[in-house]
Amino acid sequence: METTELLSPDMSGIARAADILRAGRLVAFPTETVYGLGADATNDDAVARIFSVKNRPTFNPLIVHVDSLNQAERFARFDDLGRRLAETFWPGPLTLVLPMHEGSRISKLATAGSDMLAIRVPNGGIAQQLLANSGRPIAAPSANPSGQLSPTSSVHVLKGLGGRIAAIIEGGACEVGIESTVLVTGREPAILRPGGLAKDDLEHLAGRTFQHAQTGKGPASPGQLLSHYAPRSPLRINADAAETGEVFLGFGENSGDYNLSETGDLVEAAANLFRMLHLLDQSDTKIAVAPVPEHGLGIAINDRLRRAATPA
Ligand code: TXA
Ligand code: MG
Repeated sequence: METTELLSPDMSGIARAADILRAGRLVAFPTETVYGLGADATNDDAVARIFSVKNRPTFNPLIVHVDSLNQAERFARFDDLGRRLAETFWPGPLTLVLPMHEGSRISKLATAGSDMLAIRVPNGGIAQQLLANSGRPIAAPSANPSGQLSPTSSVHVLKGLGGRIAAIIEGGACEVGIESTVLVTGREPAILRPGGLAKDDLEHLAGRTFQHAQTGKGPASPGQLLSHYAPRSPLRINADAAETGEVFLGFGENSGDYNLSETGDLVEAAANLFRMLHLLDQSDTKIAVAPVPEHGLGIAINDRLRRAATPA
């Protein structure tokens, strides 16, 4: 066990976090999507510590965060599509999987030995300041033990990883609340993980459609293990109402003990998803969740809910 420092999201807290990162230790920090567990992506030991602290299968590669497209081009090769998407949606909840430059300083462990690099520029002042201050690319998966719910507040991080990491920047709730959309470009562009940037927005800009890579087929994202993001309580999806012994997580007019969004707003529902699942998971009751429409951010929400409903 180590003492986890709780840092304020101001200049002194961020400067301290940057020092800790440069020293090869781990800092959890807020991004607009979820809290990330950050390590200096050029430091093999620091990256290895991420896998051990999260109990993460080592075949599952990490997203590297940088502060600009300029920085990203130092590490990866952009094709036209990748550059256009980056110019439009960065900073923001989009991760691009691109060929890594040979001789890049990124730890091989971060890509799990692959020559493809997942990279994104996060939005949000704290993440941006931490990147600028540390002067390092930061490898960061979501800051939760592997297989558990993603954290959207510093309290979630403390509960899951307190005593195992050097520091947490206490930056409040994450605005988007669901992880980034992961897209691989190249000859056969595909969405590897639905997320905080809706497929329609990507397709609109690209002027084409994108397939979702199927789990277990094609160039699937290694992180798409079927049971993932799981609460401890059993979870039932597409439920019309709660049965005895269940709490009900509603959506729109289908209201319950909690409601992802009373107005049926999918952006609001995404922002509430992990926070409400964390809350409901504190009791011993089972969880039933109302149907969520399968469009826009609903695709990512349903992806997370299906995984949460699959027993480990
Ligand atoms: O919003 C997010 O993306 C958050 C914040 C912290 O940025 N990060 C996050 O990281 O969700 P993580 O490690 O929990 O999920 C990374 C996803 C996984 O599905 C992983 O398999 C995929 O990205 N991925 C990473 N590197 C890849 C690569 N080289 N090729 C294919 N997929 C990759
Ligand atoms: Mg994760």
